[in-house]
Amino acid sequence: MTRSTILTTRRLRVRNWLPADVEAFHEHCNSEEVMKYLDGPSTKREIRREVAWYQQHQTRHGHTFWVVERKWDRAFLGFCGIIRVSERQSPLDGKLEIGWRIRADKWRRGYAFEAATAVIDWAEWELPSSILYARIHQRNVPSQGLARKLGMRRARVIEAQQLPREVSLWVFRLRL
Ligand SMILES: CC(C)(COP(=O)(O)OP(=O)(O)OC[C@H]1O[C@@H](n2cnc3c(N)ncnc32)[C@H](O)[C@@H]1OP(=O)(O)O)[C@@H](O)C(=O)NCCC(=O)NCCS
Repeated sequence: MTRSTILTTRRLRVRNWLPADVEAFHEHCNSEEVMKYLDGPSTKREIRREVAWYQQHQTRHGHTFWVVERKWDRAFLGFCGIIRVSERQSPLDGKLEIGWRIRADKWRRGYAFEAATAVIDWAEWELPSSILYARIHQRNVPSQGLARKLGMRRARVIEAQQLPREVSLWVFRLRL
């Protein structure tokens, strides 16, 4: 295990962000396909800022949206982890949010489920008795399927998203 490793599963390593990850994140997780329900692809500058934010969150809270890496070849797969929402206008402000993003050429191999299951196990020890939330676009069927498979259930809260078209984010929750 390297020092940055947070947890390992049968096939995956969940770890802190390293400088080289900016490039991999931009290359693999910023396509139209991956970003379809997330406001579309970001610029390189935005990606850099996003990664810096995840790193700062780790320093401040001891957890973040961590990198998910495949063990055998160290391929960058995406991220999975937990952040504390910091959006004054959101009903979830201050609450814990679980998030996931996997590169499209590696979808449907159970990687997101494997990573998220390990993250939830981690949270059961490190953030006991918390409630985890996930905000998911109403048409993002894969992400909703994953949330349900993890035992999350839809909550009453619905968030309006600041998008050109009228879209709601469905909120899922899981009590640890
Ligand atoms: C959501 C996402 C992380 C799933 O990653 P993945 O590694 O392909 O997921 P898994 O293979 O672990 O699948 C777990 C479950 O998710 C659901 N799922 C995944 N892809 C699906 C699809 N195309 N259609 C329907 N359900 C799907 C299923 O319930 C699946 O369980 P099953 O295999 O027993 O049917 C991936 O599609 C992704 O990164 N999407 C783009 C980013 C994104 O939208 N993130 C979420 C923002 S809220």
